[in-house]
Amino acid sequence: MSVVEKAIRKLQEGKQAAAAEAPPSPRRTAPAASPESAPAIILDRGVLRSAGLLPPEEDMNALAHQYREIKHPLVARAIGRGVARLAKGHLIMIASAMTGEGKSFTALNLALSLAREKDIRVLLVDADVAKPQLSHVLGLSEMPGLLDALHDVDMDVETLIRTTDVPSLSFLPAGRSSPEEATELLASSRMARLGMTLGENAPERIVVFDSPPLLQTTESSALARVVGQIVVVVRAEWTPQPVLLDALKILEGHPSVSLVLNQSVHTATSSYYYHYGNGSDRTQRPQPGTV
Ligand SMILES: Nc1ncnc2c1ncn2[C@@H]1O[C@H](COP(=O)(O)OP(=O)(O)OP(=O)(O)O)[C@@H](O)[C@H]1O
Ligand SMILES: [Mg+2]
Repeated sequence: MSVVEKAIRKLQEGKQAAAAEAPPSPRRTAPAASPESAPAIILDRGVLRSAGLLPPEEDMNALAHQYREIKHPLVARAIGRGVARLAKGHLIMIASAMTGEGKSFTALNLALSLAREKDIRVLLVDADVAKPQLSHVLGLSEMPGLLDALHDVDMDVETLIRTTDVPSLSFLPAGRSSPEEATELLASSRMARLGMTLGENAPERIVVFDSPPLLQTTESSALARVVGQIVVVVRAEWTPQPVLLDALKILEGHPSVSLVLNQSVHTATSSYYYHYGNGSDRTQRPQPGTV
């Protein structure tokens, strides 16, 4: 058994779900600058590809196949399809130990793949408030979003969510705030309440959070407590094993942590591929020697 598998087993054997959350407070709707009636965001494939958030055209099919493999167990736990429904399983955080491992890429591509599922609506949230790449590339860096909803407890977060030209996929930008305030806000109990609200408002909704690196920020460990599932992106031949283990330690006790090995050069026919590993499913293992 590899060190990572041991680490995951320890995580799974460890502790139970996060503590009970506070009930939601009454909310105010329609803030003055609400983009409620704003047009749908166009997810321009060319722009997203040049920003490195979509794979090259020729890799799209292979990647789509890999994302199907990744999403199925996540969806199963989120909605209780064939397995027990996981508490807060519809809140999925895309994490990584360090910067540049592929969180934003994975968050977007997973969200697009999830949006193709029947009877599911997907909300992609830019929770990487220090480096809101998704918001920036989509031209929404100046728009109110997550931080504004956290800042003003009475604000209805639904009014800040933007629809996109992809049916079933919507987006919540990171929003505006000072960096110091952002950290506090994400770590606050308001964030836990907001996560709950997002689920309560739309039971068929799966929320995918892009997030900051676990070892370089404190807000990502706070976000980890809010979600029911965590996908840790591990960049092949890049993330040193002790670094990954330190990151997994931060997540110790979380009920569902999965690993995705990203950007592993696999065969002559596919340039990049993902490998999915989950502590509760030991038939699928991270590729040995790379994590
Ligand atoms: N599977 C993949 N195939 C091809 N390129 C990828 C893949 N995953 C990530 N990349 C590339 O790797 C780089 C880093 O990815 P990304 O920006 O998603 O990382 P990140 O973890 O969000 O980084 P940060 O912590 O700085 O926000 C980008 O240039 C992206 O295009
Ligand atoms: Mg990112």
